[in-house]
Amino acid sequence: MSLYDEVGGAPTFERLVHAFYEGVAADAPLRALYPEEDLAPAERRLRMFLTQYFGGPNTYSQERGHPRLRMRHVPYPVTLDMRDRWMRHMLDAVEQAGIPEPQAEQMRDYFLRAAHMLVNTDDGHGHPPLTP
Ligand code: HEM
Repeated sequence: MSLYDEVGGAPTFERLVHAFYEGVAADAPLRALYPEEDLAPAERRLRMFLTQYFGGPNTYSQERGHPRLRMRHVPYPVTLDMRDRWMRHMLDAVEQAGIPEPQAEQMRDYFLRAAHMLVNTDDGHGHPPLTP
């Protein structure tokens, strides 16, 4: 049985991703990265992607092709600050969706690694000045 099925399938992933986007909607700096006025299409893409990643139906790839997440995030400046905001909303959403252990831990693990991999822009913190 896949993680997708173990945690309750479609209704659980709907709750998870919906709770996540409520967090994004209320987070002005993160919200500003999303180009569309309506977050519903972005919500649908993330829901399809996570459904597929955790072993549910592969509608995401049928509609969008290979995920290539790093490439698809290139247009958006993902700094450490944005990554941490994204992560905070996702951790809250895992909690709000009532995902049981040990699956919740597996999901947190994956999100942490994926979010780390998607950072593509230096926000200037934590580096010595580049003066000679
Ligand atoms: C680290 C911080 C992250 C930021 C700031 C960020 C931001 C964004 C933005 C602005 C978009 C475009 C919205 C749209 O689809 O219309 C997007 C798309 C997407 N993001 Fe992220 N993202 C982050 C991390 C992640 C992670 C960790 C995942 C997966 C676990 C993910 C999965 C996706 C997917 C599946 C899409 C839609 C791609 C498509 O067009 O098919 N993102 N993200």
